[in-house]
Amino acid sequence: MNTAYTPVAKGLHWLMAVLILGLLALGLYMSDLPLSPQKLQLYSWHKWAGVTAFLLVWLRLAWRVTHRPPALPDTLSPLMRLAAHAGHAALYGLMLVIPLSGWLMSSAKGFQTVWFGVWPIPDLIGKDKALGDILKEAHGALNWLLMLTLAGHVGAALWHHFVLKDDTLRRMR
Ligand code: HEM
Repeated sequence: MNTAYTPVAKGLHWLMAVLILGLLALGLYMSDLPLSPQKLQLYSWHKWAGVTAFLLVWLRLAWRVTHRPPALPDTLSPLMRLAAHAGHAALYGLMLVIPLSGWLMSSAKGFQTVWFGVWPIPDLIGKDKALGDILKEAHGALNWLLMLTLAGHVGAALWHHFVLKDDTLRRMR
C-alpha cells in the first residue's frame, strides 16, 4: 500500500495549481478590458497557457492511472470518502472540459489558437458566431464551478491539516 505520492504526482499537482490560478486570474482580468493590442496579447497568452494545462492534465491522468495514490485516512466516514472522491473526479473533469470549451470557443469565433505563436492548433469546429457566444458562456460558467470546487478542495485540505491534524496536506509536499 502506497503511503506517499510520487515526486512526479506532486510536481504535476503544484505546477497545475499555479497554472490554473494564473489562468483564472488572467481570464477574469482580460475579458473586461477594452479592445486593444494589449488585450489581444493577453488573450494569446491565456490560450497558450490553457492549451499547456490541457496537455498536462492528460499527462497527469496517465500518471494517475499507472501510479496508485496513497489511501485516504482511515478516520474518514464513508460519506466524507465519497465527497473526497467526487471532488477529485470533478476537478479532473473540469480540468479537461474547461480548456476544451476555450478551444472550441476560439474555433467557433474564428480565432485559431497558435500555441506559443509557433504551432497552429487545428480548429475543432467551423466559424459559427451564435455557437461561439454559447461556448463563451459555458467557458465562464464552468470556471465558476471550478472556483467553487477549488474552494472546497482547499478548505478540505486545511480542515485535514488544522482540525483533524492528519498528514493529508503534508504528503502532497
Ligand atoms: C484550465 C484552463 C483554463 C482556465 C482555468 C480558463 C479560465 C478562464 C476564465 C476565468 C475566463 C473569464 C471568463 C469570464 O469572464 O466569464 C476565461 C476567458 C477566456 N478563455 Fe479561458 N481558461 C482556460 C483555458 C482556455 C483555453 C485552452 C482557451 C483557448 C484555446 C481559452 C480561451 C479563452 C478566451 C478566448 C476567453 C475570453 C472570452 C471572451 O471574453 O470573449 N481558455 N478563461
